[in-house]
Amino acid sequence: MANLILRPKWWISNREITHEHAFTHRRHFLRQLGLMGIGATLGMASLHADNKPDPSKGYPYARNPKYSPEWRLTDEKTAAKYNNFYEFTTVKAAVHRMVDKFVIDPWPIEITGLVEKPMKLDVAELISQITLEERVYRFRCVEAWSMIVPWTGFPLSALLKKVQPKAAAKFVRFQSFFKPDQAPGFAETSYPWPYTEGLRLEEAMHPLTMLATGIYGKPLPKQHGAPIRVVVPWKYGYKSIKSIVKIELVDQQPSTLWETLAPKEYPFESNVNPTVPHPRWSQATERLIDTGGRANTLPFNGYATEVASLYPKS
Ligand code: MTE
Repeated sequence: MANLILRPKWWISNREITHEHAFTHRRHFLRQLGLMGIGATLGMASLHADNKPDPSKGYPYARNPKYSPEWRLTDEKTAAKYNNFYEFTTVKAAVHRMVDKFVIDPWPIEITGLVEKPMKLDVAELISQITLEERVYRFRCVEAWSMIVPWTGFPLSALLKKVQPKAAAKFVRFQSFFKPDQAPGFAETSYPWPYTEGLRLEEAMHPLTMLATGIYGKPLPKQHGAPIRVVVPWKYGYKSIKSIVKIELVDQQPSTLWETLAPKEYPFESNVNPTVPHPRWSQATERLIDTGGRANTLPFNGYATEVASLYPKS
C-alpha cells in the first residue's frame, strides 16, 4: 500500500524510538516480577543450553475448538512468500529472502506504561508462562487481499491481566523493532520508524485479539513477524503489527505509523468494512492470495457477531 502513498517530504525524528534494553538475566526478571517458581510449573521442560526456555518446542499446539471453522486454509508456502514487512522491503515476494540477518533470539520485550506490574523479559520467558493454542482466523489486508491461516498464540488479554492496567489506561500502543543493521527497509523509506500501532483497551482485551508466536503449527517464520506479533482479525492487516518489542498502556490515542503517513487512508480504527471504500479503491471484494479467486468482503471481516457491540454507532 505504501508504494502508492505520496511520501511526505519530512522525516519524523527518532524521539519516539525507545532503544531496546539489553537482556538481563532471567532470574533477575523473575524475581522482579515475583514469578520465581512459576516457571517450574509452567512447562519449562525444554530449556536452551543457556537455561532459557526454548520457544520453538511444543508445536503444534492444540486447536481451540471455538476457533476451528470448516474453512479451507490458505496454502502455507504462498502465505510465507507474500508478506508486507516494510522494515525489510516493500516487495512482498522478496521479504522472505531478506530476513536472514534478522536476529530474533534474544528478544527482550516490555509491557509498560499505565500498569500496576510492568514487565521486562525475554520473549522466551513470556511464552513459557502462558498457555499457547491454535486458532484459525480470516485475515484481510487493506490492499484487498485475504488469507485464512492457523495462528498459534494466546489472547492479549491474558498478558494484560497479568500486568494489571490502571484505571487511567484507555489505549494500548505497540512498537516494533528498530534494527537498521538487520533490515534494509529502514534505510529505503523515510517513514516514521519504528512501526507502531494501537488499539483501544476494550479492543485489546477482546477475546479475539491475539499475540501470535506461530503459524501453520510452527513458530512464526521471520517474514510473518517472529518472534511475536499482534493479530486483530476484524481490522485491516496493518493493525496486526509484527515483531513487537514494546506494549505500552496509555491514556491518549497513540499515533501510529500508517495514520501518521496517510490519516485518510489508514485511520486508527480501521475495521474491515465493505461499504467504506479506501480513497483509492473499493473494499467490497477481496482476492484470495493462493487461488486468486474473489470473495465478498464481510463487515468486520466476518467477526461482526463477536465485535460489533464494541462500535455502537456503526
Ligand atoms: N508489522 C510491521 N512491523 N511491519 C510491517 O510492514 N505490515 C502490516 C502488518 N504488520 C507490517 C506489520 C501489514 S500491511 C500486513 S497486511 C500484515 O502485517 C501482513 O502480515 P503477513 O506478512 O504475516 O501476512
